[in-house]
Amino acid sequence: MYVLGIETSCDETSIALLFFREDTYQRSFYAKINSAKLIVNIVSSQVNIHKEYGGVIPELGAREHAKNIFFVFNQVLQKAENILKQDRSKILKNITNIYVTTKPGLASSLRVGREFAKSLKFFISNELKAKTLNVFSVNHLSGHLASSFYDYSNNFYKINKKNQNFIDEYIFPHLHLLVSGGHTQLIYYKNPKSIKIIGETLDDAAGECFDKIGRMLGLGYPGGVLISKIANKKIDNTLDLPVGLKSNQSYNFSYSGLKTAARYLVQKQSFKNWNFEESLDIEDINQLIKQDEKDLQKDYLKFIKKACISAQSVIVKQLINKSNKAIADFQPKSIGLSGGVSANPLLRQELKKNFDGLVFFPDKNLTGDNGVMIALAGVMNIPE
Ligand code: KG4
Ligand code: ZN
Repeated sequence: MYVLGIETSCDETSIALLFFREDTYQRSFYAKINSAKLIVNIVSSQVNIHKEYGGVIPELGAREHAKNIFFVFNQVLQKAENILKQDRSKILKNITNIYVTTKPGLASSLRVGREFAKSLKFFISNELKAKTLNVFSVNHLSGHLASSFYDYSNNFYKINKKNQNFIDEYIFPHLHLLVSGGHTQLIYYKNPKSIKIIGETLDDAAGECFDKIGRMLGLGYPGGVLISKIANKKIDNTLDLPVGLKSNQSYNFSYSGLKTAARYLVQKQSFKNWNFEESLDIEDINQLIKQDEKDLQKDYLKFIKKACISAQSVIVKQLINKSNKAIADFQPKSIGLSGGVSANPLLRQELKKNFDGLVFFPDKNLTGDNGVMIALAGVMNIPE
């Protein structure tokens, strides 16, 4: 069965085409998700457009999705024609299911994906006289979760590598940390059909906090990516930033205290050549990435380097504190990580440090928003 995954919830327009073996219903969760062969995944990012404004502007985003989605789909079909050696009408007729993100996200952006999916259904069913195809709604967060179990590099259409077959008893119960720009959740995934959110952020998401601190430091949008490059995997809280909900016994998270502390600290600095939120030029950013603090010459760069390391250290610390507590209390067989912030090398390193069982991280190509994860979550019917 050929399936499409469509994602337009935030600032990426993405469509993926996958081939999914239908004889897998009796197989384990892992074998089933990995029987999905990836034919093509196109992601068109709006980051450069929103960068100018320091964050996502919803109406602008929706307009960009509406403009890009046709190009993205055309590229999907072009690539699929080459890979499958079939013309596009045959490919379209073979699509059985369309999975589209319908929540959570920016309403006007989500609508673009949903309307596109419905129009496609109409066109394929009526105009191409193919059998009726179905459109299914998928939760974006279920998509992120699914992405961590997918062995991306071994699942391209032509590769026929046998997947390691982790039976369900090796994976479940699974404890999952989902960290994106909009969400921070600890999820207890008891079995493939039962999911419970055991903790979530009370205010900002971890990615949002990275981005806001990045903005204060003049790093542009999305700040998380640059903070992670600048701080590397160094753990050091020299600026003494607070770790949220440290002694709170819940599995919840909070980043507003850190954000406020960082704001006061950055605002009170007085440098001759740099002020709060002033954009750094590319030369400064390159130095920050390449050089250690001791080798940086400019005083404000020394400070920004320290701030990136301190901020990342405490953001990750809180995520790890809560995850470790949940691991100790729930004794999962496996753990996993997903969402945009799961690209963070320090977070990956620290999360796997204290856990002996299986650890699932999404491939680097699947940490950001993409159509593959939406198709996977849809096919697997991951509960919300
Ligand atoms: O999942 P995602 O692509 O979009 C949402 O669903 O929100 O996550 C985007 C977030 C942004 O906040 C971005 O700064 C963050 O992921 N991010 C990172 C890294 N790469 C992306 N944060 C920290 N370290 C990274 N390496
Ligand atoms: Zn996302």
